[in-house]
Amino acid sequence: MNRKGIILAGGTGSRLWPITLGVSKQLLPIHDKPMIYYPLSVLMLGGIREVAIITTPEDQAQFQRLLGDGAQWGLQLTYIIQPSPDGLAQAYLLARDFLNGAPSVLVLGDNIFFGHGLPEMLAQADAKAQGGTVFGYRVADPERYGVVDFDANGQVRAIIEKPAKPPSNYAVTGLYYLDARAPDLAAQVKPSPRGELEIADLLEIYRAEGSLNVERMGRGYAWLDTGTHGSLLDAGNFVRTLENRQGLQVGCPDEIAYRQGWISRDNLAVRAKIYAKNDYGRYLAAIVAERV
Ligand code: TTP
Repeated sequence: MNRKGIILAGGTGSRLWPITLGVSKQLLPIHDKPMIYYPLSVLMLGGIREVAIITTPEDQAQFQRLLGDGAQWGLQLTYIIQPSPDGLAQAYLLARDFLNGAPSVLVLGDNIFFGHGLPEMLAQADAKAQGGTVFGYRVADPERYGVVDFDANGQVRAIIEKPAKPPSNYAVTGLYYLDARAPDLAAQVKPSPRGELEIADLLEIYRAEGSLNVERMGRGYAWLDTGTHGSLLDAGNFVRTLENRQGLQVGCPDEIAYRQGWISRDNLAVRAKIYAKNDYGRYLAAIVAERV
């Protein structure tokens, strides 16, 4: 599939003020890596090598400084500005030229996914050329999210943004596989009462034509929020706990690029040297030293 990736990394981050008054939320640390490494890793696990990163005008230069053109990971990164945070569905309008008729996978830059079998789940969504796939995840506080309303047969009746009375506990995660029509369909979406182009309204177009697949992401997965002070720290602690216990990295683009065969062992050795002073570098060096 010629699918392209989009990371939506703009927004206001107002729940994290005053931290995010001076720096983009998606550049904040989640334990040992910048937040955006995690959604980028998800795209890479899904086999995506062409990625557009949408940022605010103020923050674009810092993302470029961090990630460059992506060649270090065998990727092609493109940077797009969102002049103001007018909603998630706007990503498809801003990325229209970048997508150039390709199907896409959009991931929110502050979403962290972890779980055994994630690559297989992504491959399945990728294989669906027509329509879309989104992922439903059980949460304790669905009223904060877009929530899936299932009918008695488990079919999706609606996706309701931040409902006062949630019809289920299943929130729609920030990972959206949509077909090549997404920019055209997003152009039909009108601003909501809060003035945003809502992703729920775009998904409703797909649902109404019967082409929206909602995959349940089961309890074996972690889908973490990072949007508040507490959840930011919790996500960092989650990653730290896993990494310390297993000795395996979560969200490591260098490792994924190497295991995908996108960079060579020599390339990885160069990367390991850059970080030789810390655990990240030692981790990469150990992979370089693995027997093949
Ligand atoms: P939100 O968490 O809804 O908004 P936010 O990040 O601006 O934070 P807050 O509510 O604290 O003000 O956004 C989800 C993700 O999408 C996040 O990574 C920011 C991003 N985003 C954009 O890039 N552009 C937008 O127009 C919106 C609404 C969000």
